[in-house]
Amino acid sequence: MINEVKDLLKKHNITLAAHYYQKDEIFDIADLTGDSLELAKKTVNLKNPLIFCGVSFMGESAKILNPSIPVYMPKLASCSMARMAEEEKVKRDIETLKKENIDFIPICYVNSSAKIKAIVGELNGSICTSSSADKIIKWAIDQNKKVYFLPDKNLGTNMAKKLGLKSKVIGEDNWQEADIICFDGHCSVHQLFMPEHVEFYKEKYPDIKIVVHPECSPEVCEKADFIGSTSQILNYVKAHPNEKMAIGTEFNFVNRMKRDINPNIYILSSTKPECPSMNETTLKELYELLKAIDKEKPYNEIIVEENIAKNALKALNKMLEIVK
Ligand code: 13P
Ligand code: SF4
Repeated sequence: MINEVKDLLKKHNITLAAHYYQKDEIFDIADLTGDSLELAKKTVNLKNPLIFCGVSFMGESAKILNPSIPVYMPKLASCSMARMAEEEKVKRDIETLKKENIDFIPICYVNSSAKIKAIVGELNGSICTSSSADKIIKWAIDQNKKVYFLPDKNLGTNMAKKLGLKSKVIGEDNWQEADIICFDGHCSVHQLFMPEHVEFYKEKYPDIKIVVHPECSPEVCEKADFIGSTSQILNYVKAHPNEKMAIGTEFNFVNRMKRDINPNIYILSSTKPECPSMNETTLKELYELLKAIDKEKPYNEIIVEENIAKNALKALNKMLEIVK
């Protein structure tokens, strides 16, 4: 099947983008790979059709940033954290912030729907990714504003600690006093990593390095030796190819680094931390989509309503401008 897939990609001059959490069968044949920020940047100037293997917000972001090309996804798999940020809940939070006369800038993690990004764009806020969240928060704080951070309370809290700021989840005691006011969302995969997993590995191998994604809880991040986005984790592993490490992020990615770079890698959890949404995409699904494109009957083309795309683009461009 793999050769047929490669032939069809070539025949239709399609670029294949894949996030690190994709299955090896997809990731190993992708033209573009990276963390969320890198993938967004890499797809901006493409001229040919794109197939994006990841979760829906990634395909949507690519389409919003580059509306002139068709963007397809083998599966429209939605990230569970992005789903938590429902429009009604976000609007309710914004009303609460306004009622309390809080002078804030909304900063929205890229793991969110286009609709939520558009709300943030309309309010002159910015998108951030796990690798750019610190810079984007600093941009807002430097304007003497508070930050309404959504949807990941862990990323918001971990960045607050990194920057020496106070954070609270909206509605908690004295939440109005915080510099970063977080929406109450989280990642169902990264919540699997527990402080006791860190303690277990540190006791067993006193010299082990604990490496985690900032979507992990603050209790886990506090005990880590390195916290970073997927690309930052990859660079850390490449720089330490012989050290024992326990890594707290998605299984496909960690297992691939163990296979290709450092055999002394352990998974930092007692259960397999697979992202069900990322794992919906398979080589077979990709092949089916390519066959449909070949028969001029494509499906799962990403379409974003014009007004939503306009405001979401404003928020995405703000991020690209700040990180450039
Ligand atoms: P990165 O931007 O670090 O690749 O993270 C994406 C993601 O969904 C992590 O769960
Ligand atoms: Fe979403 Fe978590 Fe999966 Fe990342 S790992 S795509 S945040 S559910």
